[in-house]
Amino acid sequence: MPKSTSIWIDTAHRPSTSPLDRDATADVCIVGAGIAGLTTAYLLARDGASVVVLDAGSVGNGQTAVTTAHLSNVIDDTFKEMLRLHGPDGARLARESHGSAIDAIEGICTGEHMDCRFERVDGYLFLGRNQKESSLDEEMEAARASGATVQRLPHAPVTGFSSGPCLRFPNQAHFHPLKYLNGLATAIRRRGGQIYSDSRVIEATGGAGACVRTAAGHVVRPQSIVIATNSPFNDLVAIHTKQAPYHTYAIGTRVSRGAITPALYWDTEDPYHYVRLHHTSNRELGGDNDDAVDILIVGGEDHKAGQAQDADARFAALEAWTRERFRAAGAVEFRWSGQVMETVDGLGYIGRNPLDADNVYVVTGDSGMGMTHGTIGGMLITDLILDRENPWTELYDPARVRTGAAVEWVKENLNVALQYKDWLTRGDVASIDEIAPGNGAVVVEAGRKIAVYRDERGTVHRRSAVCPHLGCVVAWNPSASTWDCPCHGSRFDKFGGVFNGPSPNDLDPA
Ligand SMILES: Cc1cc2nc3c(=O)[nH]c(=O)nc-3n(C[C@H](O)[C@H](O)[C@H](O)COP(=O)(O)OP(=O)(O)OC[C@H]3O[C@@H](n4cnc5c(N)ncnc54)[C@H](O)[C@@H]3O)c2cc1C
Ligand code: FES
Repeated sequence: MPKSTSIWIDTAHRPSTSPLDRDATADVCIVGAGIAGLTTAYLLARDGASVVVLDAGSVGNGQTAVTTAHLSNVIDDTFKEMLRLHGPDGARLARESHGSAIDAIEGICTGEHMDCRFERVDGYLFLGRNQKESSLDEEMEAARASGATVQRLPHAPVTGFSSGPCLRFPNQAHFHPLKYLNGLATAIRRRGGQIYSDSRVIEATGGAGACVRTAAGHVVRPQSIVIATNSPFNDLVAIHTKQAPYHTYAIGTRVSRGAITPALYWDTEDPYHYVRLHHTSNRELGGDNDDAVDILIVGGEDHKAGQAQDADARFAALEAWTRERFRAAGAVEFRWSGQVMETVDGLGYIGRNPLDADNVYVVTGDSGMGMTHGTIGGMLITDLILDRENPWTELYDPARVRTGAAVEWVKENLNVALQYKDWLTRGDVASIDEIAPGNGAVVVEAGRKIAVYRDERGTVHRRSAVCPHLGCVVAWNPSASTWDCPCHGSRFDKFGGVFNGPSPNDLDPA
């Protein structure tokens, strides 16, 4: 049986941290210890600022632990879309910012002597099923108009994969994201920064007396606050009507070293498939020798969060897709899933939090490029806090509105409105007795929707199924054993504890 976890979680330890147990002061308080939060903390600390990082869980508790960690400046919403939505200058800046983020990661890895397997590789965009070759020509033209170096090839010059016609984008990269976070955490602490785990933030107030309060009642008083929680919990609607949560799946299969050329591979389907290699060893995977092996990581099968419960079918489809194209793929060793926030115009929201005090900053809207978006977040917010010019400020402004994104905005918000119909539907099962151990389902009791989880011992745990953010009904996610909100992406563990905003609170008791 494959492990239901990411290869990163399986092959990296977490730095030892403890909860905040007293009040504190700092130049900057950063909420969230994923790639966005820790990059921000690192860059600020490197420039001499005092930083306190608070995370509800541990370092790398969120989506950074379940990513596939492609590092790319090839915009996944396509350069064609970037030109349409942001114009030639915007598309060029977007590409440059993601390229600079990769350079920054490489520089940090080298400068801090990190062993996080950072490696430069080529990227290949190839045709998906039933896609026209002309789509590659259009994308090449748009990429060139955005200043990208790109080459059209009859097939990728690689071993182990016959791509057919493709575009080659040189100088992309990949790495081990949790080993990178560990390296950042060590470097932050070496510079005097403080990182606290198990410290959920329930309130972040900006202004002259800025204050960040944890659920345990401790307070940090900083000059500036950065909310890097993937989906901000301190914003009710301003940002959440402009981005939508999508669930995406990944598998890792074992291949012999050298059987497939390390590269980033993506197809032109929507949702697209994304592929990379990770170098590891038999011992790191739990074996008894140091033989070199690779894990082929394939992702895709995305759907709107909380709106599908067929994880097994999606993992099976990914495996079939992989075996058809990568003959060297061996046994599936890992399968996992996670959530990305897709913005209506394809770029992250990074900067001053709209409708808030000037010293509250936010980074969100990763759009499947969260490794680089998170790093851009760290670079841009550091410049804003330290009052330095940054050419990306306007492009990523969280308050921006792009007229070209209106259709997407209407589509996503109509989809949210439709989710409220769940109030009127029957539950997933007629009776709690139908829920097998280790599973969850929404049931209706006295006209109310209840989220019921039956643990492996058979004990039943009941919570209100109504999301505390804006009242949609959550859905059981069988691949991650979580309750996911179909509206704006709040996620709750099987017992109803919130671990991803915008909901600031757990599911209510039933
Ligand atoms: C399957 C999958 C594949 C992906 N592949 C890629 C890829 O190849 N390349 C790429 O660039 N991106 C990819 N992404 C996207 C990328 O992984 C994410 O965008 C990125 O990791 C987000 O980082 P983050 O720091 O913003 O958030 P997170 O890593 O989620 O960190 C947020 C942190 O905030 C903490 N937190 C939340 N609420 C609170 C609170 N109230 N108080 C305190 N702490 C709180 C959480 O515990 C968490 O640790 C992928 C995502 C998935 C799911
Ligand atoms: S996340 Fe908005 S209603 Fe649940």
